[in-house]
Amino acid sequence: MKDETPMPFGKHAALLVRERQPFNAGPPPELLRRAFVTPEELFFVRNHGTVPEVDPAGYRLAVGGMVGRPLSLSLDDLRDRFPSVSLVATLQCAGNRRTELMAIEPIPKEAPWDTEAISNAHWTGVPMRAVLEAAEVEEGARHVAFDGLDDVERQQRHFGFGGSIPLEKALGPEVLLAYEMNGAPLPPTHGFPLRVVTPGYIGARSVKWLSRITLQAEPSDNYFQAHAYKLFPPQVRAETADWERGLMLGELSITAVICRPQAGETLPAGQVLVQGYALAGGGRRVERVDLSTDGGATWITAELVDEYHRWAWRFWEARLELAPGAHQIAVRAWDSAANTQPEDARKIWNFKGYMNNSWHRVEVHVEPSER
Ligand code: MTE
Repeated sequence: MKDETPMPFGKHAALLVRERQPFNAGPPPELLRRAFVTPEELFFVRNHGTVPEVDPAGYRLAVGGMVGRPLSLSLDDLRDRFPSVSLVATLQCAGNRRTELMAIEPIPKEAPWDTEAISNAHWTGVPMRAVLEAAEVEEGARHVAFDGLDDVERQQRHFGFGGSIPLEKALGPEVLLAYEMNGAPLPPTHGFPLRVVTPGYIGARSVKWLSRITLQAEPSDNYFQAHAYKLFPPQVRAETADWERGLMLGELSITAVICRPQAGETLPAGQVLVQGYALAGGGRRVERVDLSTDGGATWITAELVDEYHRWAWRFWEARLELAPGAHQIAVRAWDSAANTQPEDARKIWNFKGYMNNSWHRVEVHVEPSER
């Protein structure tokens, strides 16, 4: 039965809702691929808890820990005392494309994202490094931890979502304390009044409803840094995991996805237009996107479209000649370090369902040509 519940937060009615409470949703592939900068109503939402209502007049950002000068900054302080910069950056959740891993073996209690836990926006805010400089970071500080104002429940405890990034990353000009998204104040569900934007990293490090920045020697001990968002080999299960040994996720890996045609589509005879997105992690470039219709024996190079923005996804397209019948189209991208994507999702399956960047494949059927 069709879900008739209205879409919350002014979001587009076509969004694929993966969870209602907390709200988790993203746009179907054809809408996702329509605009290089994702309109706010289509931008995916990944919430682990409540969407807090924050009074902008009483709001203060605390900066503390290993600093010479602890700060308490109002929104006016952030706007008036610091530079403002804008950049285009893509956010992608580490759980994007989890459903393909779930098809191999179930992954209970995790959001079933298809290819829509990704979006691209124009962000405006204060460079994080300007605030860190004002706070006079002390020697020995190595990590910058963030705490959100939301209320998340895990393991019978209530706390705010949090995480951290290395100080070295936080000092990069691309890391922002954003108060605007696509030229408008940050919407409530995307972190009003202030969020971190950490381009090139998994979405979890872009903490929304930011309340506190803490300079420290070690990564954050928040559940979402110390426990979740860690990567394990395929044989490890939640019950057997030694959480200390998981790979703590930070930089994104190279990925590419086919948005059009969609899986299971029947296409008229003739040329087939194939379109999608690709994203490289850590500020590397998407150098090439390859398509194969013979299981990876041979590859066709797709064309990269739209301008290059260092921290944004890259749209690509190609026209394929496909004979009548069934076909599988596979895509893989390469980045500027010549990293590419693994062929087989089974080899990177992990019990939390993170970082699935295996070749993306869609099965299509081409109709016989009319006489
Ligand atoms: N920040 C807070 N405070 N609470 C959250 O649940 N989710 C994180 C991150 N920041 C989250 C958060 C995750 S996992 C992702 S992928 C991004 O926000 C998603 O950002 P968006 O909802 O604006 O798309």
